Amino acid sequence: MSIDRAQPLRLGVLASGRGSNLQAIIDAIETGTLDARIVVVISNKREAPALDRARRHGITEIFLDPKPFSGRPDTREAYDRALLDILQKYEAELVLLAGYMKIVTSVLVQAYPNRIMNIHPALLPAFPGLDVQKKALEHGVKISGCTVHFVTEGVDEGPIIVQASVPVLESDTAEALSARILEQEHRLYPRAVQLYAEGKLQVEGRCVRIQKNGSSSIPSADAV
Ligand code: GRF
Repeated sequence: MSIDRAQPLRLGVLASGRGSNLQAIIDAIETGTLDARIVVVISNKREAPALDRARRHGITEIFLDPKPFSGRPDTREAYDRALLDILQKYEAELVLLAGYMKIVTSVLVQAYPNRIMNIHPALLPAFPGLDVQKKALEHGVKISGCTVHFVTEGVDEGPIIVQASVPVLESDTAEALSARILEQEHRLYPRAVQLYAEGKLQVEGRCVRIQKNGSSSIPSADAV
């Protein structure tokens, strides 16, 4: 079932840092390869360069300070309730985590089931979590890459949407490998969002089927 949208898909983006993936999404929208609109960018870091990027493109940006929520038993959930209020106020249909360094809780996941995406710089389910390029090198893997997946309550565990592979070189440092993976991230994330915008993603259990020309299949890595 593909979707004929009268209006572009409304995106809410959560970002904590430099925001290069946010920039890739902005660029894809501005060049017309992604039929979407970013309605709000929210950060838990006041100084996040991602907020500057949003501002430069005339996108509403909000710093949601975690401090007022700390010290209570439901700190993370309370923060996510405040996030949710903002996302709903701006009528975000799909939420993108783009270098968002907080673990989202059931508050957000249940409000946006299979409607939150994340990009991760490894071929999940290998190397979830942090410092993954360093771990990949320590492990001696020959191929790494990146994964776009739907977000569930388990960290980096949700249904995999698309992946891209990146060969690991013998001379690689974590920085060099990260940079090559990042290039693929910038290509992959907008395409995954476009597939969603076209109504081509169907979640079955923990698999995501991508509809192509009326049929549905599970693509291999690099298939998009
Ligand atoms: C990216 O490597 C992404 O895969 C990971 O965090 C990093 C964010 O980078 N989740 P940026 O802020 O998008 O530049």
